[in-house]
Amino acid sequence: MKLTEKNLMHRREFLASSGVLAASAATAFAHFPAKGKRLKIAIVGTGSRGSQTWGKSVLEHHGDVVEIVGLCDINRKRVRAAQKLIGTSAPVFFDFDEMIRQTDPEAVVVTTVDSSHYKYTVRAMELGCDVISEKPLCTDEEQCQTILDTQKRTGQKVTVTFNARHGRGEIKVKELLLEKAVGEVQSVDFHEYLNVRHGADYFRRWHRLKENSGTLLVHKASHHFDQMNWWLDSDPVDVIAEGDLKFYGRNHAFRSTHCRVCPYRERCRFHWDVMQNEAYVKLYVDCESEDGYLRDGCVWRENTNIYDTMTVLVRYANDARLTYTANCYLPYEGQAIAFNGANGRLDYLTYSGGGKRLDEIRLTPAFGKTEVITDFGPVREGGHGGSDVSLKDMIFRGIAADDLQLSAGLRAGALASLTGIAAYRSIEREGVKVRISDLVSL
Ligand SMILES: NC(=O)c1ccc[n+]([C@@H]2O[C@H](COP(=O)([O-])OP(=O)(O)OC[C@H]3O[C@@H](n4cnc5c(N)ncnc54)[C@H](O)[C@@H]3O)[C@@H](O)[C@H]2O)c1
Repeated sequence: MKLTEKNLMHRREFLASSGVLAASAATAFAHFPAKGKRLKIAIVGTGSRGSQTWGKSVLEHHGDVVEIVGLCDINRKRVRAAQKLIGTSAPVFFDFDEMIRQTDPEAVVVTTVDSSHYKYTVRAMELGCDVISEKPLCTDEEQCQTILDTQKRTGQKVTVTFNARHGRGEIKVKELLLEKAVGEVQSVDFHEYLNVRHGADYFRRWHRLKENSGTLLVHKASHHFDQMNWWLDSDPVDVIAEGDLKFYGRNHAFRSTHCRVCPYRERCRFHWDVMQNEAYVKLYVDCESEDGYLRDGCVWRENTNIYDTMTVLVRYANDARLTYTANCYLPYEGQAIAFNGANGRLDYLTYSGGGKRLDEIRLTPAFGKTEVITDFGPVREGGHGGSDVSLKDMIFRGIAADDLQLSAGLRAGALASLTGIAAYRSIEREGVKVRISDLVSL
């Protein structure tokens, strides 16, 4: 479907009448500074995401509007390595409160291991700072409630960095749904394919332990559950899930601690050489003496306790249903998402594997021919297909199409995490239906 003047008008009228325009103003969550000033940010968690996306890349693309005033991590070597990689003279800290006291930032960027996001989010607000938290906002319901209560008490602004809303194809899907291109959406099939490289990498790193990541249903799927809330413009109500560890971890004949010392390196298809990546050597290998963290951990370690095979059913407030699956050991990488509407079906297929690549939207009316859309607008530069820069443009410059509801605040962050938390609680309780409203008081 082409975006003609007429249907653009129709979309704007629909948005205005439904109150969406008013509710979605990007400025409500943006942290852009006063004219002529730079926003003072401090970063806690200076690993890969903290030092690159929110460090080096911020200075490159947003250095005119953002100033990094402090860096903090529990790993003393890593925070110094990050300082060098970012190319900043901002001071380094090992004590969060001390960093806030000395550097007086306006906003704190939280890029630590998932299960510690809440700790810094809460403390930053208590110390009078706004928060820009990487997803997921939190990994269990208690953390979620503490964050919600603290925000209410302090009135500070919390933004959750759902860059996955900013994909070109994702935005096109949102536009089509806003236009009601397939009528009311009754159900959605969302299949997440993680391949033997990207999928395996979660089982090398801290993510493989539930106490760190809340499982991939929170760490990874919070992106997808957020996209669903955004696309459907509705809230999750209840969740049923199943999950299993069928491939990685204990499911193997041999194992080691990590790839560098592995006696099976010739036989293991998952052997991976961290030494080939100069930045990783500086950020992780050279810092092992501080915390013993192994970036090239063996994917077959027996105490891995997250799932690699997941199925989730979600019911939404608008009565739409989601069937979600995620598998982490596939020859494909990507997603197959289908919106089943009253007047047709919208498929969003974006995956690669086996020498083939697909990146298209298929719009099929109930009684008509399929239209295939492959033009998602100009190609962009930067991480995640330009989504990271787009997200930061929105946060730091206030640039965003308000009517697309791209901003994600505290509520969005909470609902995305809570869907994943409800899913793993359902698995723990052998498939019982978990109501979101039983987990926290929003
Ligand atoms: N939106 C995205 O596309 C995207 C992509 C990658 C990562 N992320 C998110 O960014 C965050 C960081 O991921 P990463 O890949 O950079 O991991 P990483 O392992 O490279 O970095 C995590 C850092 O947190 C530090 N840390 C751990 N516990 C801490 C604590 N209690 N206090 C202070 N520091 C602590 C570690 O020492 C490490 O430096 C995660 O929450 C992840 O979900 C988001």
